[in-house]
Amino acid sequence: MSILGTPTVFLHGQAANKFFFTCDSNILSNKQPSPTRRICGERNILELSGHEHKRLRGALLSFLKPEVLRQYVSKMDEEIRKHFEMHWRGKNKVLAMPSMKTLTFNVMSSLLIGIEQGAKRDVLLDLFHKIMEGILSVPINLPFTRFNRSLQASAKTRTILMNLIQEKRAALEHATAFPKQDLITTLLSLRNEDNSVALSDEEIVDSLVLIMIAGYDTTSNLLSFLIRISANDPSVYASMIQEQEEIAKSKACGELLTWDDLARMKCTWRVAMESLRMTPPALILYRKVLKDFEYEGYLIPKGWQVMLSTSMTHMDDNIFPDASKFDPKRFEIQGSVPPYSFVAFGGGPRICPGMEFARLETLITIHHLVNRFTWKLCRPGMSFCREPFPIFKDGLEIEIEPKIPVKVN
Ligand code: HEM
Repeated sequence: MSILGTPTVFLHGQAANKFFFTCDSNILSNKQPSPTRRICGERNILELSGHEHKRLRGALLSFLKPEVLRQYVSKMDEEIRKHFEMHWRGKNKVLAMPSMKTLTFNVMSSLLIGIEQGAKRDVLLDLFHKIMEGILSVPINLPFTRFNRSLQASAKTRTILMNLIQEKRAALEHATAFPKQDLITTLLSLRNEDNSVALSDEEIVDSLVLIMIAGYDTTSNLLSFLIRISANDPSVYASMIQEQEEIAKSKACGELLTWDDLARMKCTWRVAMESLRMTPPALILYRKVLKDFEYEGYLIPKGWQVMLSTSMTHMDDNIFPDASKFDPKRFEIQGSVPPYSFVAFGGGPRICPGMEFARLETLITIHHLVNRFTWKLCRPGMSFCREPFPIFKDGLEIEIEPKIPVKVN
């Protein structure tokens, strides 16, 4: 088939996933089409391969790995509590999907860029919305097109981030900031073996823009779908509330969540995994063919593109029995899902490095949601469409009521 004039091969299934995720990057390239690259930057991680990719990925993971993120659970918890206080408390109705987007942006802005609540963050959020609109638009660069606005927003965002990098570098030199304070300070502090700086400022800026884009729609989508499934399926809601109430009861009033509390949220995470299985935010993954190759007897020529459907494997009854049933129990036994079958976070050397960050944000958000509010959907029958991320046209409007707390922690 041909998509926007480029011959395209569609792959799906466990073996195809393994091939797609582990194929040599000289054959299947992750480089994005030129319009996306213009918005995200030439040195963002998607554009790099081989040693350069490994180096940048290692740098990002030096902040995003579990051993480091565990120190930031309470900071994330504070940010999420603030969100519910500011945007949910005292309201009867909430547009859940935009709300989860704002929450996700704020959590990332605070932990990764180190910009807290205030005017600067509001400016960035506005610019970021424009960037996102352009990524999904027709790439015509004329005044007043979405793509043009997105390019301009990307340039302004870069200037803000460049200035921030200078400020943080000075703060590190004067010891008024510490190396693992946020992702920027972590990246600025990385050194090569000969003590030279590991990443250029351009690489840091491009990484920040890409990471914000990669984490924003994906995590906020997952949270929105969890709000929907909890409202539609009483047994799913019951399993999460039981687990989350127990954790709330074990905490003193106002006490922040810890890494150990999150380790107890196993049932909630299984619900999240099942939601990702049934509605993966990244439905289709993309690669460009750089060299002719043969797959299952077919010759795929250079210049074609390969698209991988994540959900076709997720909905295969041979891998996930009764696949159209929402059943979080299927993730109860660790290792029961065959390799390269659950691919909501991708696989191989490019598997999502933000997985742990998304897990923490999801668990903390659900903890506060179910312990503080009850909710029902304003339009229970309303389905979603794909643009290409799944979205609810009505913003997933819900009626909310504050709960008499078991104990508000
Ligand atoms: C539920 C939330 C998320 C989902 C479902 C998700 C999904 C994915 C998938 C499927 C890929 C692989 C794409 C491919 O192979 O073409 C990916 C890559 C990536 N994700 Fe995520 N993601 C999520 C959250 C995040 C967050 C929170 C961050 C950042 C903090 C992030 C940063 C990235 C980056 C930087 C890459 C590129 C990795 C590389 O090329 O080495 N993601 N993600």
